[in-house]
Amino acid sequence: MSYDEHTSSSFTYISQMGVWWIVLVVAVLTHTASAAVREYHWEVEYKYWSPDCKEGAVMTVNGEFPGPTIKAFAGDTIVVNLTNKLTTEGLVIHWHGIRQFGSPWADGAAGVTQCAINPGETFTYNFTVEKPGTHFYHGHYGMQRSAGLYGSLIVDVAKGKSERLRYDGEFNLLLSDWWHEAIPSQELGLSSKPMRWIGEAQSILINGRGQFNCSLAAQFSNNTSLPMCTFKEGDQCAPQILHVEPNKTYRIRLSSTTALASLNLAVQGHKLVVVEADGNYITPFTTDDIDIYSGESYSVLLTTDQDPSHNYYISVGVRGRKPNTTQALTILNYVTAPASKLPSSPPPVTPRWDDFERSKNFSKKIFSAMGSPSPPKKYRKRLILLNTQNLIDGYTKWAINNVSLVTPATPYLGSVKYNLKLGFNRKSPPRSYRMDYDIMNPPPFPNTTTGNGIYVFPFNVTVDVIIQNANVLKGIVSEIHPWHLHGHDFWVLGYGDGKFKPGIDEKTYNLKNPPLRNTAILYPYGWTAIRFVTDNPGVWFFHCHIEPHLHMGMGVVFAEGLNRIGKVPDEALGCGLTKQFLMNRNRN
Ligand code: C2O
Ligand code: CU
Repeated sequence: MSYDEHTSSSFTYISQMGVWWIVLVVAVLTHTASAAVREYHWEVEYKYWSPDCKEGAVMTVNGEFPGPTIKAFAGDTIVVNLTNKLTTEGLVIHWHGIRQFGSPWADGAAGVTQCAINPGETFTYNFTVEKPGTHFYHGHYGMQRSAGLYGSLIVDVAKGKSERLRYDGEFNLLLSDWWHEAIPSQELGLSSKPMRWIGEAQSILINGRGQFNCSLAAQFSNNTSLPMCTFKEGDQCAPQILHVEPNKTYRIRLSSTTALASLNLAVQGHKLVVVEADGNYITPFTTDDIDIYSGESYSVLLTTDQDPSHNYYISVGVRGRKPNTTQALTILNYVTAPASKLPSSPPPVTPRWDDFERSKNFSKKIFSAMGSPSPPKKYRKRLILLNTQNLIDGYTKWAINNVSLVTPATPYLGSVKYNLKLGFNRKSPPRSYRMDYDIMNPPPFPNTTTGNGIYVFPFNVTVDVIIQNANVLKGIVSEIHPWHLHGHDFWVLGYGDGKFKPGIDEKTYNLKNPPLRNTAILYPYGWTAIRFVTDNPGVWFFHCHIEPHLHMGMGVVFAEGLNRIGKVPDEALGCGLTKQFLMNRNRN
């Protein structure tokens, strides 16, 4: 990987400018004195890899899995020259948690903000990371995230500014889940009739490492029937051990890019103080374990106040769905103890998978930090989005207000920028659902339709979105859906059980200190209310972050400030109707 960093400098221009400009230039310089441009050259290709000690095909970035961590400071510009070395498929990368102010074309959502990059081609992303936070990036075309295309994107406070959190060192744990079935085959199964479900993951990975056929806790035989793990130097599935000194405080950054699993992380014998959620500071609270859903990120502070002659398990187990995946484990090693010494008691037990009350209580402990922006008191536009599982011609789909999303061949951003009427269906999808719909039972009329309409909002208005859960197609079950919005942080105003009651449930909203996030959890049979301001001209995906659910149509698209969208590089739009449009335009 090549990597250059050059601090931006405008000195050469000063002499050419009139004296009137000097004041302005000085102001700009002091503001961005330390902002850097970080440029990367990335090549994505499949490699044989053994994430959980069993070999499979993994999507790598510059031969690494997970992809390289981007570390930047607030205000920096990130430039990624991304070359698609996959031989038979397109490619995009989404910068999850980055709002892309002024660069909606760099959001990396195929079919929404750009065309997939063709095999052999290079596309350049260029965007600013405007505030500190723990984020990640991942493929956003087909199910490429499931194939292992992901990595961390960590933004520290701007150089010269001080971090409000106090800690002596930090770690970064990127959590994911892994299947042995190849991704094209998983995609085929999901879009077959009858649908073939992917099942639960074979393993949970911590920084791309897990153990499928052995356990780091085998000595506690009632915990697992697996043999003890032994690793050779350089094994791709060997756990990364966290080496810590006694009586220090560490920041542990956590993010989850799982395809399916909801996770719970605990560190044996240690408390965690949760301080950041999705790149926003929150009111710190102490917990023994933390739930983390796909699309979420957190920072926790851990103080090494336990017996320094011991080591401790870090465990990551599955919640929210009946687990069929062994807990992932690694070790917190006090450097005062030998790193090879195993912990003396069994790893923390993951809380019961179906204790949803516990899960909701955890979500409800999260409040924004003092001094965070509070939401506007009223909304101008509101959507109520019913989440259902449906059938289309016998194919199983997920639908929102009875529409299962299929993104068009022409990216929405191109269609709206150049006003190409045929790019997608200009009729808005339904803004609500029939209020007599029984969310507690399977849909009485399971048939639905696909669609590619979008919700268009004016610039700078306050939008509320209520996501409403319901029963799945068969049986009496309702699933968890982590909903992620591109281009924005939103306030999570509240959660409720059952059907949202307009005019009544608004009274339960937290308008004082709701957390700002980019992912919100929809619990079984419940609703979740979010609020955001349409201050970011562009077209933004809002979807369930469970990869197979999105693949089956579980998403919607928002567009805002359409006449304020700036220049979109032609390279982003070389497909569908925009391709012909740009050819004609550039000929003239
Ligand atoms: Cu991390 Cu559209 O997703
Ligand atoms: Cu979902």
